[in-house]
Amino acid sequence: MMKQQQQDQDGIHVDAGDAPGSDAPPPPSRHRRMSPLHIFIIAFLAVCALVGVIALLVWLIYRPSNIQVSVDAATLSRFSVNSTATPPALSFNLTAGLIITNPNARVAVYYDLLRAEGIYLGERFDRIALPISFQPANRADVVRAVLAGTSAAAGGEQTAKGALYPVDLWLNGVVRYRYGRLMRTAASTLSVKCPLVLQLMVASGTVECTVNL
Ligand SMILES: *[C@@H]1O[C@H](CO)[C@@H](O)[C@H](O)[C@H]1NC(C)=O
Ligand SMILES: *[C@@H]1O[C@H](CO)[C@@H](O)[C@H](O)[C@H]1NC(C)=O
Repeated sequence: MMKQQQQDQDGIHVDAGDAPGSDAPPPPSRHRRMSPLHIFIIAFLAVCALVGVIALLVWLIYRPSNIQVSVDAATLSRFSVNSTATPPALSFNLTAGLIITNPNARVAVYYDLLRAEGIYLGERFDRIALPISFQPANRADVVRAVLAGTSAAAGGEQTAKGALYPVDLWLNGVVRYRYGRLMRTAASTLSVKCPLVLQLMVASGTVECTVNL
């Protein structure tokens, strides 16, 4: 420290000694000196660039793939409209096994909220919360959804017309990803649509759902 200061002082003495003897413009070293504002701006840009590069690397290393959802056997054991009631009442009992898969090798998923909705003729007849809140990397969970009850019927008596019921299961929720041990992404919404065509008391096969993040 001391040596450095002395050298600096010596340097100044030499400069001062040279200056009075000539009419030369100020030494070029003056031009290279930056104001604190310049230094701050350059440091700020450097930090921004570094953060950007780290974020890009983290993204490239962990790059989360979409969650996958499929329905493994859904059964409609009740689906009838009582049209003498006002408004017409739909009684339903739909059970479904949902396979929710986190295909990522290094990314865990938090489900801050995940709900299943039963949709018939474009209207929701029931909504339940699904019991899943966290999935470690590389894991598939089977979650059972039971939608049973009575609600105002959409489309009146249309349920009586056919033996096949186009009943959709929609999932919606809020998810966050965790990279490694520490980093977590901001929450994003998850929307899943599983189109089903069900016959009373006949279990469906496996149905792949469409996932939008
Ligand atoms: C239909 O609803 C009416 C009025 O609520 C009720 O009296 C009747 O028992 C219901 N029928 C069936 C089959 O549930
Ligand atoms: C719905 O159906 C399942 C069988 O498919 C049955 O175990 C369950 O008790 C039913 N729930 C209601 C509320 O009717």
